[in-house]
Amino acid sequence: MDYKVRKDFKYLSGCIEIPPDKSISHRAVIFSALASGKSIIKNFSDAQDPQTSLRICKNLGADIVVKKDSYIEVTSDGKLYPYNKNLNCSNSGTTMRLLSGILAGQNFNSILTGDESLSKRPMGRIIEPLTLMGANIKSNNFHAPLEIRKSELHAIKYCSPIASAQVKSCILLAGLFAQGTTEYTEPYLSRNHTEIMLKSMGANIRTNKNTTTIEKSELQPLNIEIFGDISSAAFFIVAALIIPKSKIVLKNIGLNKTRAGIIEVVKKMNGNITILDKKIICGEEVGDIQIEYSPDLTGCEISGEIIPRLIDEIPVIALMATQAKGQTIIKDAQDLRNKETDRIKTTVSELKKLGAEIEETNDGMIINGKITLKGDTITDSYTDHRLAMTLYIAGLITEKEISIKNFEWIKISFPEFTKLIESLKIG
Ligand code: S3P
Repeated sequence: MDYKVRKDFKYLSGCIEIPPDKSISHRAVIFSALASGKSIIKNFSDAQDPQTSLRICKNLGADIVVKKDSYIEVTSDGKLYPYNKNLNCSNSGTTMRLLSGILAGQNFNSILTGDESLSKRPMGRIIEPLTLMGANIKSNNFHAPLEIRKSELHAIKYCSPIASAQVKSCILLAGLFAQGTTEYTEPYLSRNHTEIMLKSMGANIRTNKNTTTIEKSELQPLNIEIFGDISSAAFFIVAALIIPKSKIVLKNIGLNKTRAGIIEVVKKMNGNITILDKKIICGEEVGDIQIEYSPDLTGCEISGEIIPRLIDEIPVIALMATQAKGQTIIKDAQDLRNKETDRIKTTVSELKKLGAEIEETNDGMIINGKITLKGDTITDSYTDHRLAMTLYIAGLITEKEISIKNFEWIKISFPEFTKLIESLKIG
């Protein structure tokens, strides 16, 4: 059934915690399965994608006990074991790409499958470098399912043509099982959660600018409390910026510079955003974010090295740009076409349905701002969780009510989204 966005409120106000970071949750459970001993992960994400990684780690032999309040214990002897069925990665690109790197270096065969959306996403970007390392992978024309046969890996020096944390993590994880020193260079720095976490677990890993090297290493167990997800916080940040009279605080959010590009863009666009109470948790910068309604938002160009640092936030940034004076140009973001949907096409088509002045370009979009979004229409997330939440926030400022098809896909990254936004609605 189409989801109707309720508009019976005046503004947003309050202080909330945002659910745990999805990227860190994936890495925490997967890396713990590779460490000898008992790892403790507090505040593990209950969203579908990280739960997929958890299920597959169990399939591969890790002993995972889920205690109350998203507290999990992962016990492993540091080895993975063959699973005699397909490993189903569902909708999760992070699960498939990170696990491919690990499984390529094991002494058993595995088959990774995905849902309809994941099966359309490009896997050549990992198959190519893994094959150079000696991996033996059969694919459906560089798409899932991936049949990963046992092989002995050797190190390579690889210069990636794209800035992708999933590809980087895949190759670095393969490097953990390869003879020699694996060296990975990317054109711009993508999120570095893998490097930070592997280092904290004792891996022999070093980063210098955009190049990281890694050697075969034994991992020590992890003990981590996962903080709030900046990519989920992004929907609330934009909502508070564009809904008159709003003022909210989001507690304990990850602010790692390689991930939190949206904060720089909001500042550049004249948004009223303040970071409070900064601290470091497990090598990652964390803080509270205060956001106030910002009537003077101004368009800008978003391109180059910042793109990988805000790649998942572009749909909701495009919505923010519809409310900013002047033009916003988003460039160098062609990889958006390889996400859960072609996010250039779907973001443009759905915001256009609401009355936005937005045009698709090859590698991004151009948005003319200060437009009243009319609504009174049925939009579609096309099963893309981030588009579903972007459209919900848009529906809070449209003149008339909107409906969203396939809204339930928010479960992929943020099942608590509607409950949390309802808790901030006043009046
Ligand atoms: C992720 C990396 C990004 C991002 C995805 C999560 C990660 O993908 O879009 O949601 O956790 O490493 P790419 O590396 O393909 O850009």
